[in-house]
Amino acid sequence: MAFPSPTQAFHTSAYPAIDPTLAALSTKGKNIVITGGGAGIGSEIAKAFARSGAASIALLGRTEKTLLATKQAIENEFKATAVRTYVADITSAKDLDHSISAHAKEFGKFHVLVANAGFLPLGQSIVDSTLDEWYEGFEVNVKGNYNLVRAFLPHANADATVLSINTVLSQMAYIPGMSSYSASKIATAKLFEYLHYEHPELFVLSIHPGSIKTAMNAKAVGTGKPYPYDNIDLPASFLVWAASDKAKFLNGKFVWAQWDVEELSEMAETIKGTEKFTFGLLGWP
Ligand SMILES: NC(=O)c1ccc[n+]([C@@H]2O[C@H](COP(=O)([O-])OP(=O)(O)OC[C@H]3O[C@@H](n4cnc5c(N)ncnc54)[C@H](OP(=O)(O)O)[C@@H]3O)[C@@H](O)[C@H]2O)c1
Repeated sequence: MAFPSPTQAFHTSAYPAIDPTLAALSTKGKNIVITGGGAGIGSEIAKAFARSGAASIALLGRTEKTLLATKQAIENEFKATAVRTYVADITSAKDLDHSISAHAKEFGKFHVLVANAGFLPLGQSIVDSTLDEWYEGFEVNVKGNYNLVRAFLPHANADATVLSINTVLSQMAYIPGMSSYSASKIATAKLFEYLHYEHPELFVLSIHPGSIKTAMNAKAVGTGKPYPYDNIDLPASFLVWAASDKAKFLNGKFVWAQWDVEELSEMAETIKGTEKFTFGLLGWP
């Protein structure tokens, strides 16, 4: 599916301007926390932050095995980054408080939060769904991120960066079977928009990561089906760019990882402080 884009270039894989090894994107000395850091996009984001020189990374998720595999992969390649794993379910405020405060106790305040963990409920209509499955979208995507923000704030550096992995489905019109995912992700975007207004000292950005071949994506599109996937290095590298000073003009916005960052930067004055790339009601003047 061809999507409209505000930039001429619409990327499907990482490109030089978002290369995590660029000096301007360095995260040397920074502490990063990533939910869902053991698998899929979150695991690749963790590797990209290690590539950019992060001092420490806290990987949170429910599956110890995948968290440890990501930790090992980072430690093998990037000796300067200390990685700690925390078995934590983001629907549990207690798990998050424990993990985030333990990491901060060892490494100091956090500079970057990547709110990546998410849940895609089975693609059924409202009437064919069960309340448990349908509402799980809200439990993880909304309550989980509410818990996360509250656990993070007491351990956040004064001008910390908060990056929320959202989805194009929060903006698209009707997609059959996506009521819970779409509605819960719109709520998630609003949650982070409110965080932006309540904490102007932070940098807050919601991001659609592209269409990435992961366990969750397979659930959405069905396995074995040809699909125009983006490369997983695109959202991973984009997140490192988004955590740099170069992205500051996007504070409080929602952007896609496929959009070209150099073209976006040229449009900075028409983006900053305007309604561009925020949620609203179509047709309302
Ligand atoms: N893949 C795509 O094409 C695509 C497109 C748009 C948006 N996204 C978004 O990208 C994010 C990552 O998705 P993905 O595609 O990488 O999916 P994935 O491979 O299924 O990974 C999801 C991650 O979230 C973690 N997670 C799920 N529920 C959790 C919970 N209750 N507590 C803690 N961790 C939890 C999982 O770890 P455990 O199971 O071990 O807890 C896993 O690491 C999601 O927010 C998703 O909505 C993905």
